[in-house]
Parts: sequence; structure tokens; C-alpha cells
Amino acid sequence: MKRLTIALSLYTGLALALTTTAAGKKELPPAAKKAGVTFDKDIKPIFEKSCVECHGEKKQKGKLRLDTLANALKASENGKSIAPGKSADSSLVKAVARLVEDDAMPPEGKSKPLTDEQVGLIRAWIDQGAK
Ligand code: HEC
Repeated sequence: MKRLTIALSLYTGLALALTTTAAGKKELPPAAKKAGVTFDKDIKPIFEKSCVECHGEKKQKGKLRLDTLANALKASENGKSIAPGKSADSSLVKAVARLVEDDAMPPEGKSKPLTDEQVGLIRAWIDQGAK
């Protein structure tokens, strides 16, 4: 009987843990199909509109600057947020896709969330090597 109770409570705990992660998570939008995506042409306008007020010349929240390609690729407070070639592993992508509300960028209520198309373009840029 005791063994059954332990097994049951383990099972409930696991089920709870699984539901909690599932609830806070969305899927990443797919990478855009566009070829030849570059920072200057495609990404800089997005960052200038939605990010640079907090991650630019004047302020560097989280020690991150997104105003130039070189700055965007540098390590910030928690390490590199862009892993060239691997958009799904890049914390910046998870942040703009708002997978975890606490880490969502731009922060809740501060500025409009990026659209799935914008997130897809950022993914394509990173997957193509973040040039
Ligand atoms: C209103 C201010 C604000 C705006 C706008 C904003 N951020 Fe942030 N960002 C922050 C703050 C504050 C932090 C650090 C604290 C935290 O993690 O919440 C941060 C941290 C980050 C980090 C984690 C850096 C690290 O190493 O910890 C990333 C990545 C990021 N922002 C990306 C973006 C992107 C991309 C945009 C635009 C789409 C953006 N942010 C827009 C305020 C902002």
C-alpha cells in the first residue's frame, strides 16, 4: 500500500510538472523562407523600432546592445544571446517569441510584442549565420 502511495504521488508530481511547463510555453514561429537575410538590411530596422531604446547607445539593459551587428553578437549579462546557425538555441529568439513571460522581450507592457513574421525573420537571420 505504501509503495502504491509513493508511486501515485510521484506520478501526480510528474504530471503537474509537465502541465506547468506546457502551459507557459508556445512553439517558436518558423524561420522565414527568405534567403540572404542580413542585419543591416532586415534586422536593424526591427531592433531600432522595438529594442534599441533599452539596448542601444544610451541604455544597455542586461548589458546588451543591439544597435550594431558586432554589439549584438557580443556576450551580455547571461552570455551570448545569439548562437549563429542555431536560432532555436538562441535566448534572444526565445525572448522575442515570448516563450517564458518573465523573460519576454520587449518586456510586457513596455512596447508592442514582435509579430511572428518578425520573429521568423530574426530566426532566418541567425540560422543563416547572423551576418
Ligand atoms: C523597455 C526596455 C526594454 C526593451 C524595449 C527591450 N528590452 Fe531586452 N531587456 C530589458 C531589461 C531590463 C533586461 C534585463 C533584465 C531582464 O532580463 O529582465 C533585458 C534583457 C534582455 C536580454 C537578455 C540579456 C542577458 O544576457 O541577460 C535579451 C536577449 C533582450 N533583452 C533582448 C531584447 C530584444 C531583442 C528587444 C526588442 C525586440 C528588447 N530586448 C527590448 C529591457 C528592455
